[in-house]
Amino acid sequence: MPAPTAAELDEYAARRARLMEAVGADGIAIVPAARETVRNRDVHYRFRQDSDFWYLTGFGEPDAVAVLAPGRDGGAFVLFVRERNKEREIWDGRRAGPEGAVKTYRADQAYAAAELDRMLPALLAGRSKVFYTLGEHPEWDVKITACVREIREVSRRGPAAPTEFVALDTSLHELRLIKTPAELAALRHACAVSAQAHVRAMRASAPGVWEWQVAAEIHHEFEKHRMEPGYGSIVGGGDNACILHYTENDAQLADGDLLLIDAGGEFRGYTADITRTFPVNGRFSGPQKDVYEVVLAAQKAAIAELKPGNSSGRPHEVATRVLTEGMVALGLLQGDPDELIHTEKHRQFYMHGTGHWLGMDVHDVGRYKLQGQPRPFAEGMVMTVEPGLYIAPDAPGVDPRFRGIGIRIEDDVLVTAAGPEVLTPGVPKEVADVEALMRG
Ligand code: GLY
Ligand code: MN
Ligand code: MN
Repeated sequence: MPAPTAAELDEYAARRARLMEAVGADGIAIVPAARETVRNRDVHYRFRQDSDFWYLTGFGEPDAVAVLAPGRDGGAFVLFVRERNKEREIWDGRRAGPEGAVKTYRADQAYAAAELDRMLPALLAGRSKVFYTLGEHPEWDVKITACVREIREVSRRGPAAPTEFVALDTSLHELRLIKTPAELAALRHACAVSAQAHVRAMRASAPGVWEWQVAAEIHHEFEKHRMEPGYGSIVGGGDNACILHYTENDAQLADGDLLLIDAGGEFRGYTADITRTFPVNGRFSGPQKDVYEVVLAAQKAAIAELKPGNSSGRPHEVATRVLTEGMVALGLLQGDPDELIHTEKHRQFYMHGTGHWLGMDVHDVGRYKLQGQPRPFAEGMVMTVEPGLYIAPDAPGVDPRFRGIGIRIEDDVLVTAAGPEVLTPGVPKEVADVEALMRG
């Protein structure tokens, strides 16, 4: 994880201040960092910081905990971090230690992580609400709930025990849902490089090339820009495109096949999420083009719905409608589109949603519904728009020319006062533009 810049550290401080407004004087927020995960024996998976923790601190080490306790004597922002350790630092790399947590990361106070157990009772005492998401960090769940129980047991004599655990969904995640200018700058960069990577993948694709070789082109483009995949890249040729979470990427591309690529790079914590589907030999066949144009029309109609005040359920409604009408026109389904949607017949070929929030997590945080209804869009929200059609190779009763065609088109879209802004226009999606790129 990159060391934060001074501007990023200012931004993290502003975020903490905003979260503390939501937490209030009688609350406390506890946000653990990610832990390392063993890959095999002495080897760990590449470390990725927990997004909530990163959002608030910029601190890139595992096994830390951030505590925000508004009004606390000694300072509201307390970081618990790994201690300095000469031996471990020779093997595993530098550690900030408590001193670095204060000096570099602007904690008001910092302690060794092992101190948290001892300090928890004093931190929690007298706070009625604990902003902490139970169920995500089992080792901390046990310690924190045990501590609350202890305080409760002695509370007749001492300070009151917390009465409420509040998940971070309604506070921190609502902040993360609306992107700040600094977040948008990082996301725009992630989107631009990811679009470039898709262009490179289109150019590198041809009959006989293997899916993993195309994936390598994409990942090289990310790494050249100090990025990494924000999620497992999907590079699916032919009917592999009909497997929604296909990540084996181990087949050879064949003449006449389409290739579906769903890949996005992460830049300083923010990931793009782009899908394109194109012909391996550079020319769409008639049936491929027919299905593609339906998906593209659905995608454009859905994108147009991302306006402040519109229901966030609209893109899916609109995309489903355009896709279902298209499926009827192509003879994939028979009947009245409204009835087909009502009876969910469209789900044979379109079985997923049309988009999700995007940000530090590819499926980003933020509630989709308020009071049981899809929430309205607001400026600063970013959503993917990704309709598709997937006609399984053995789909019964389907014209064989359509069998094995899987198509998804996915862009990342920012809600602005002026309307939807596509953040990923750098990779073509019109049939003529895709074919021209592959000829060039
Ligand atoms: N790449 C994951 C998704 O599109 O949701
Ligand atoms: Mn997506
Ligand atoms: Mn995707």
